[in-house]
Amino acid sequence: MRSDLSPISRRDAIRIPSRAVELSPEEFAVFGQLDLLRLPRHVAIIMDGNGRWAGKRALKRFLGHQQGAESVQFVVETASRIDLPWLTLYAFSLENNLRRPKAEVSFLMKLLKNYLVGNVKRLNDNNVRMTYIGRTRELPNEIQDTMQWAQEETAHNTGTTLTLALNYGSRTEIVDAARSLLSTLMEEAHTRGCSLEDLLQVDGLESRLDEEQLAANLYTSHMPDPDLVIRTSGEMRISNFLLWQMAYAEIFVTDRLWPDFRGLHLLEAIQQYQQRERRFGGLGEGTDETLAGADLALEPADQVAEEIEHELLPKTLLTRR
Ligand code: FPP
Repeated sequence: MRSDLSPISRRDAIRIPSRAVELSPEEFAVFGQLDLLRLPRHVAIIMDGNGRWAGKRALKRFLGHQQGAESVQFVVETASRIDLPWLTLYAFSLENNLRRPKAEVSFLMKLLKNYLVGNVKRLNDNNVRMTYIGRTRELPNEIQDTMQWAQEETAHNTGTTLTLALNYGSRTEIVDAARSLLSTLMEEAHTRGCSLEDLLQVDGLESRLDEEQLAANLYTSHMPDPDLVIRTSGEMRISNFLLWQMAYAEIFVTDRLWPDFRGLHLLEAIQQYQQRERRFGGLGEGTDETLAGADLALEPADQVAEEIEHELLPKTLLTRR
């Protein structure tokens, strides 16, 4: 792939999203400033602050969730207008399921059902494909049926894939992945008529259990890792969301409460994301000692350590030893 994109080839490489004209004037103003070659592929959002939004207005928490569901649709539509390939929303955690009052959990389930029933047409109009991650089999059957229906109704869409994390916990996801890997290995040992121990001895544990294989058994195996994780309501927490997948994601926290979050704010978060320098554990572009420029005949480590010691430690300490 060419890295020296000249203005002309750069322009050729850019595919302007055909539905960008549907953005609001405010959204379009921000969108116009984005580098279309560096749009994130996957944005994941921790939607937080529904309760506080309601509390500030002396309303019941339920109404905050209801308003939050409206925000979901606004944000999804903006994402689809800019051709964002993957949008993942943390809608209901395992902890929410276990620790919230029953009445709130059952309201959230009803809200999800109403959202799906009420918005499948709009999802189709926006070419959005609906999927889910989480221990969804533990949700009430009626909710699962509606979820499956919405997934099937939108399966043909080719634009944004909207993934709702439902009854989701990241540690549980990693445990589920480890269990699934183990059961595949046990099945294979059974088929080959040997013990698991024998199988691992022949193949070597490293070849049967590595990062790639674990990732392939996560709920998210079919999608790229998130480039940008947004959290609303100002809390500096990850809350057991996509722990493995967000290893190199850029994190954007806004004080705005989720029911006040709109497509415009998604675009502003993307704008901030584009100002970050992603290094993936390497050296930044501006670093003066990138490997390309460095003298590859490295000095022995002992010599370097001694030089540093002489430069940094006060003379008195050096002489005292
Ligand atoms: C956090 O707010 C949010 C949730 C527990 C659930 C998120 C749900 C929605 C946005 C609405 C429904 C979603 C869909 C997809 C229909 P909180 O109650 O923890 O807020 P607080 O921290 O201010 O109390």
